[in-house]
Amino acid sequence: MTLRVWNIILFLPILLCSTNSSYVPPRIEMKRLSNIPLISSWNNNSAFLYNYNSAFMPTINDSDAVALLVRVQNLHSGSKSIYDVGPSRLALSRSLDDTHLKYSYISEQDILIDTDREYQAIGVEDPRIVLYNNTYYLLYTALSSDAHGVWRAQLTLATCKNNCFTKGNWIYYGPLFPNVFWSKSGSLLIHNETHRYLFFNDSNIAIARTKDLIHYDLSSTFLLTTRPDHFDSDLVEAGPQPLKLSDKNYLFLYNSGRQVTTPNPKPGWHIQYNLGWAILNGDDPTQVLARSEVPILSPELDWERCDNTSGEWANRGLTPLVVFIEGWKQTDEDTFLVWYQGCDSTMGLAELKVHFS
Ligand SMILES: *[C@@H]1O[C@H](CO)[C@@H](O)[C@H](O)[C@H]1NC(C)=O
Ligand SMILES: *[C@@H]1O[C@H](CO)[C@@H](O)[C@H](O)[C@H]1NC(C)=O
Ligand SMILES: *[C@@H]1O[C@H](CO)[C@@H](O)[C@H](O)[C@H]1NC(C)=O
Ligand SMILES: *[C@@H]1O[C@H](CO)[C@@H](O)[C@H](O)[C@H]1NC(C)=O
Ligand SMILES: *[C@@H]1O[C@H](CO)[C@@H](O)[C@H](O)[C@H]1NC(C)=O
Ligand SMILES: *[C@@H]1O[C@H](CO)[C@@H](O)[C@H](O)[C@H]1NC(C)=O
Repeated sequence: MTLRVWNIILFLPILLCSTNSSYVPPRIEMKRLSNIPLISSWNNNSAFLYNYNSAFMPTINDSDAVALLVRVQNLHSGSKSIYDVGPSRLALSRSLDDTHLKYSYISEQDILIDTDREYQAIGVEDPRIVLYNNTYYLLYTALSSDAHGVWRAQLTLATCKNNCFTKGNWIYYGPLFPNVFWSKSGSLLIHNETHRYLFFNDSNIAIARTKDLIHYDLSSTFLLTTRPDHFDSDLVEAGPQPLKLSDKNYLFLYNSGRQVTTPNPKPGWHIQYNLGWAILNGDDPTQVLARSEVPILSPELDWERCDNTSGEWANRGLTPLVVFIEGWKQTDEDTFLVWYQGCDSTMGLAELKVHFS
């Protein structure tokens, strides 16, 4: 397998006076570990057509084992195009060796979170998982429709303590903000015993606080907003939980969208998703010390672009021009494995390294 060259991006402190002039950000580089997708119905890794937006599920008793909670989706019966999809659900897939490039086949019996509740009757999407005190805290988007048939998305919590690879053992707490019509994408940071933060939502990334990890209080401040003159001009959306670097500050990965004119087969689609980062103050994670000037991962491979130049992947991609991240694992102080998806269709894996010099 050919490895892609490291995409090295150097940030000069002078670019960062808008955030914090005294902080010198590290150099962050990311490389793909596979040029072919990891989980894909076209490689016969899954009974589902689309396999994407995966949470990394740390295993309680074996720190080296890797499990993913994968958003899976099929076409509607009688669908007229590859964009005519049915409800999403969340299914388990386990890594088969320590390269983490091979995964167990996903079938109906691997579904852990299903459309079996009113507030998620239209779909369960976009999981992010934190393991704390031997309990999984799973935040995901529940889709339902209101009394007028209008679809709503609600950021929703489920937890599990024992035998969590079995569907029936999850406890459902329902939507975190029942009075808010639209919320999604929760990145939970358990900073210390008293300070726990939820960075969430798309458009802009909002902040909520929690004492017990079950009840969440909205605040009126944002962690990150869109920047009209940058790659994240259209939307920003939380990635997985921030993780601590060797300098005791947090690295936070976020997803972002911008308008593009790249010819692609999806009618009316003109947004490209790229990965950005921010460094959050280790003493007060609501403070952004530095933020990426350019993306660290962009759609480049056929199965990440799914545009008119992508060969067979032009006819496979549910959403062209997307890379998106919801799960990562720290493998060393400043090294991470990052599971990302391409085109809302399949999963890839990359390594991210942070260098302080
Ligand atoms: C795909 O994989 C499944 C499960 O491993 C197996 O049952 C099935 O026969 C395979 N199908 C093809 C076409 O290889
Ligand atoms: C981990 O080990 C403990 C104690 O041996 C056991 O009670 C628990 O069920 C195990 N958890 C998992 C996920 O296997
Ligand atoms: C961890 O869980 C146990 C049992 O569920 C509970 O008694 C304890 O208070 C928890 N500890 C923390 C630090 O949350
Ligand atoms: C989340 O973003 C949506 C727009 O995408 C907005 O309507 C909603 O009010 C936001 N929710 C919260 C809780 O900030
Ligand atoms: C891109 O591909 C689509 C579908 O194959 C086609 O309809 C469209 O005209 C193409 N766009 C350009 C600019 O080639
Ligand atoms: C927890 O974090 C908050 C915010 O950074 C800080 O003010 C507080 O002192 C911390 N508590 C402990 C016990 O470290």
